[in-house]
Amino acid sequence: MNTNPITEQIVYLNGQYMPMLESKISTQDRGFLFGDGVYEVIPVYDRKLFAFPEHLQRLKNSLHATSIQNPLTDAEWLELLSTLIEKHPWSDQYIYLQITRGIQIQRDHLPEDGLIPTIYAYSNPLKAVSDDIIENGISAITLEDIRWLNCDIKAITLLPNIMMKLTAKARHADDAILVSREGFITEGTSSNCFIVKNGTLITPPNGHSLLPGVTRMVIERVAIAHNIPMLEQQITLTDLESADEIWLSSSTKDALPVTRLNDSAVGTGKPGAVWQKMRGFYQEHKLAFIDEQAE
Ligand code: PDD
Repeated sequence: MNTNPITEQIVYLNGQYMPMLESKISTQDRGFLFGDGVYEVIPVYDRKLFAFPEHLQRLKNSLHATSIQNPLTDAEWLELLSTLIEKHPWSDQYIYLQITRGIQIQRDHLPEDGLIPTIYAYSNPLKAVSDDIIENGISAITLEDIRWLNCDIKAITLLPNIMMKLTAKARHADDAILVSREGFITEGTSSNCFIVKNGTLITPPNGHSLLPGVTRMVIERVAIAHNIPMLEQQITLTDLESADEIWLSSSTKDALPVTRLNDSAVGTGKPGAVWQKMRGFYQEHKLAFIDEQAE
């Protein structure tokens, strides 16, 4: 018997809220058979959806790019996710939202016309990053980016990301930073990548080879607001290896400092000064957002 309290969570599935253990989907769902779907992960601070317009826009872009019908209006998406937040006690949460192309009884790579998308969403408590990571950072290895050429779509098809994460684990690293066939850094397995060189924050430009991260965008805005020099520019492996700081950013972790790369220290081997500054500014930004929403 699984007594994990997580199983007492309420999830949303196709129009209904229900306990997670009771939520069931068809084995003929194209998400299950083909990984034919898209998703979003949205942080919630003080019970408020953070950067919701940006997450919703990216969701709509992913649906459009994959020709999956957007099943709800913007107002309906907001209503759905707000109700889900209300059903859980945690102040900080993160929402996982997945839309697949729907159920097709005859398995066929070519989707039938008129399928009804499957909508699934749940919320989890959003845990603070551990003191150990704040103090010591994380380790990463570099790996060839083995993914497809549409990484700007937030697709549920994550097998390459999982394989690369497993390789990192086998090599006793926390994560992997990915290098494209052209020799440029793309991103992490589930995060965007930044480096700091001589005080300037650098991240690769958006395009098909990486996800346009919402946290990445917020970090850029915060950097500009606080006069931290910021560039969108291709990063080579040599740039990465000689960086003063490396960060990985995502909605569930903000920016994490990478302090070991391929078994060598990054900069001083401790979270860097620019990261420390950004951490403070980012927290201030979140608090300002919470205050704004309360008004
Ligand atoms: N992942 N790049 C990839 C490949 C990602 O999977 C993610 C996020 C990001 C960062 O995007 P954002 O800042 O919008 O979260 C970049 C989520 C958290 C996940 O898959 O759980």
